[in-house]
Amino acid sequence: MPKVALVSPQDRLNADFIGPGIGTMFGAKKYLWGNIPAFDILKLGSNEGEKYAGDLRLLFAASGDIRHVIKTVALVPSSYDHSLEVTINDKDFDIVARNIILLLVALVVEKPDEAVDCIIHLWYSALVRQADIDILQDRIRPLIEDICEKVKNKSPDHLLAKTWKFGRRSLRLVLEQSSWNRLLNLFKKPAITAEQANRIRLENTLAPSRRDYRDRYMNCISPIQRVSFNKFRQDGLLLPFGFSRQDFREPNPTFFQVGDTWPMKDDADPLHGWSLEEVSNTSSGAATADTYGKLFYYLRGLLYAFLDRISGLNVSFKLFQLDVSSLPDHLDKESFSRIDVSNISDRAWLGIRHTLYFMLPLLQTPLQNPHATLITLFMNAVEETLTDKDRMQGLTPHSRETKDLFQYLGASPENKPDVIKLIVGRDLVTKYDHIFDRYVKDLQFYHVGEVLGAMMKEKHTIIEKWPYRLKLRPGQPGAQDEFDRCMMIGVSGKERYIEWKKIHQGYL
Ligand SMILES: C[S@@+](CC[C@H](N)C(=O)[O-])C[C@H]1O[C@@H](n2cnc3c(N)ncnc32)[C@H](O)[C@@H]1O
Repeated sequence: MPKVALVSPQDRLNADFIGPGIGTMFGAKKYLWGNIPAFDILKLGSNEGEKYAGDLRLLFAASGDIRHVIKTVALVPSSYDHSLEVTINDKDFDIVARNIILLLVALVVEKPDEAVDCIIHLWYSALVRQADIDILQDRIRPLIEDICEKVKNKSPDHLLAKTWKFGRRSLRLVLEQSSWNRLLNLFKKPAITAEQANRIRLENTLAPSRRDYRDRYMNCISPIQRVSFNKFRQDGLLLPFGFSRQDFREPNPTFFQVGDTWPMKDDADPLHGWSLEEVSNTSSGAATADTYGKLFYYLRGLLYAFLDRISGLNVSFKLFQLDVSSLPDHLDKESFSRIDVSNISDRAWLGIRHTLYFMLPLLQTPLQNPHATLITLFMNAVEETLTDKDRMQGLTPHSRETKDLFQYLGASPENKPDVIKLIVGRDLVTKYDHIFDRYVKDLQFYHVGEVLGAMMKEKHTIIEKWPYRLKLRPGQPGAQDEFDRCMMIGVSGKERYIEWKKIHQGYL
């Protein structure tokens, strides 16, 4: 293995936490927090134009949390004054329920200061304030209760829709009768104390059996950033370092519903859902290395922008909890300007064929909108396609990749980089175009696209093909910061986006 060839046997002996099991999961496979940075799926200015005079329809077909929605809507240019329809679907009830609650808080609570902090706490903190619970109980719960009462005699699998209007804004929710009741149950106070909630979370986030995993990660970040990382793992509160924690005494009901388990993987991290570059550039006052505090301030800014934008916009949100395969049956023949499917296009989820099959009929034709785009993400394709031979190539002692890597890691004959940094850094300095091309060929992307009526866009207009690849060369101004930041975030540089446009109605 190349990673071993780069270090001496003695180094291997010194690295105690190298062992089997890298990449093994721990905790529930549920994505209540996204694991890929949010992006603006519209990019109106560089596509239709800031003064576009048509209505826009966006579909988040396997949304995960609402971070892409928040970012996209917050960035709609102020010059746009037509209607914006945002359809948000996920098959996972817990994810949809949280999305509904966060959006209702945004729409119902009049004071932006109150709404913004309540959204951040419910989204990311394991314990919340009584003030957050009061908003849930007094402002949101009655809306749901009212519907549950009206539909109590319907059959559990009956789909029922309700639209709430808030001035020019609206939210439509389509759920099965049983899910409406489940949603209402979420407002019940969890039957655990704050101490029990903490114990449950800590058994996951600081599990003794996972110490090596945390050490491996901490090995890649600066000592001062480890303090902030540990604090979040310890107290589970997304707050700046110096903020008082004393009001955070109520278990967050959107996390603690079933049994006594923390509902996410132990490495789920709020930072993974946002651009670390943008977060790092946010001021956190004197605590300059408080990355989680920076995220808190970054989210505050973004959520204020979101609230400000929806206050002046004719915007409607529609939420569904359906499998993507049955979503088209519930959409009234609507077609969309943008469709984002997250990475359900990966083979481990729905795969590219089924994703295109279900989504393309929902995409606007170039005649309706030449900028209409379906965005697919492949997070696992490169890793799945790499052979042992591929892995051996590139990191030979004199290759460009090895030289770059050693320059970033400050390696010299006296100062050898450690194995963990080599393994993580290796992905960042390697280019995987030829590997992904093989995947595209193996799965016949061109043919599948042709049959179903779509083609891959040569030039992307929404998100780069490889957005998390290093952009600078070692030695260039900012290159070391870029490398260090990439070592810290959850992405590897192997994530590949494909943008599709429709070319005909398909042959099926
Ligand atoms: C593909 S997953 C992976 C996590 C994702 N990378 C993120 O950052 O959120 C994203 C979401 O897709 C949803 N999902 C997966 N398959 C789906 C399907 N067939 N229909 C609808 N949603 C689906 C999951 O419930 C999850 O919330």
